[in-house]
Amino acid sequence: MRVVVAGGTGFIGSVLWESLLAKGHDVVLLTRDASRSRDHIHPKVHVVSWAPGAAWESWVDGAGGIVNLAGESIAQRWTNAAKARIVASRLEATEKLCAAIQKAILKPSVLVNASAVGIYGPRGEETLSEDSPLGSDFLATTCAAWEEAASVAEPLGVRVALIRTGVVLGREGGALAKMLPPFKAFLGGPIGGGGQWMSWIHRDDLVALYAFALENPEVVGPLNGTAPNPVTMKAFATALGHALHRPSFLSAPAPAVRLLLGEMATVVLDGQRVVPKKAEGLGFRFRFPQIDAALRDVAGG
Ligand SMILES: NC(=O)c1ccc[n+]([C@@H]2O[C@H](COP(=O)([O-])OP(=O)(O)OC[C@H]3O[C@@H](n4cnc5c(N)ncnc54)[C@H](OP(=O)(O)O)[C@@H]3O)[C@@H](O)[C@H]2O)c1
Repeated sequence: MRVVVAGGTGFIGSVLWESLLAKGHDVVLLTRDASRSRDHIHPKVHVVSWAPGAAWESWVDGAGGIVNLAGESIAQRWTNAAKARIVASRLEATEKLCAAIQKAILKPSVLVNASAVGIYGPRGEETLSEDSPLGSDFLATTCAAWEEAASVAEPLGVRVALIRTGVVLGREGGALAKMLPPFKAFLGGPIGGGGQWMSWIHRDDLVALYAFALENPEVVGPLNGTAPNPVTMKAFATALGHALHRPSFLSAPAPAVRLLLGEMATVVLDGQRVVPKKAEGLGFRFRFPQIDAALRDVAGG
């Protein structure tokens, strides 16, 4: 089928389009800058600008599925201006896609929209599934508004899947790229107290989950995009130390992390213990269910 991927030039999207191509799908990437992106992308992928004024909506008409990954990175100091950009970039992109779906004569059968485990808010030891109540902090309300914007496609007859993604582990980029330098310099260790939970997923498993959501009509609504075995920050640091053959006992104290990152520190200092109840219930098989093997794959060697 033809799959239109918005925001597909980034850390998750660049592996997703490769996997969709390998499965025989026809891939269209919507990007804000088609000239910049085209060099790094396979010639079989259609790279289409969806900058204001560009004609891109006809690609949505007749597409089999839409994936929406677009949004400004949250990995920055959350000033009021940054927060506004984080929210607006997600809502505007999702609203644009839903408007194009509404106009389409032949509507796609599915919209798979990114979301994040931040939707549950900081929850201590509680084990969270798709049925758990949502949080009320900045990330939680942002994700809830994002999911609501995507759900506008539902009454148009489109199946909507919302991938509540944890910390994605992959080579080159993502959260791991920021954690590796201190570990490689023998200065690694847990961030904050170490007891906070971290819900992670190997990027290959996340990409497989996106394909699963695209192809499986039973996937409807929220789907936790996390490995079945979340770990504490301390266990994560130990596993990363093992994968890199480096020590992992130098912790970064929470007050220093708060000073450095501001409100955004909640992402690493609080965390959530999220499990993929729905994906497992629907028969999705994780290639990397355990943190040690996942980190050996992405950081070892
Ligand atoms: N990586 C993670 O650990 C993780 C965890 C939870 C949720 N997620 C969510 O999953 C999605 C994809 O993640 P990722 O790690 O692949 O992100 P990424 O590498 O930052 O890529 C996101 C893409 O969104 C587009 N984009 C960036 N700023 C934008 C803006 N202001 N307006 C419209 N589009 C914009 C960019 O595409 P162009 O420059 O080509 O337009 C970019 O390639 C994100 O929305 C993220 O919130 C990621």
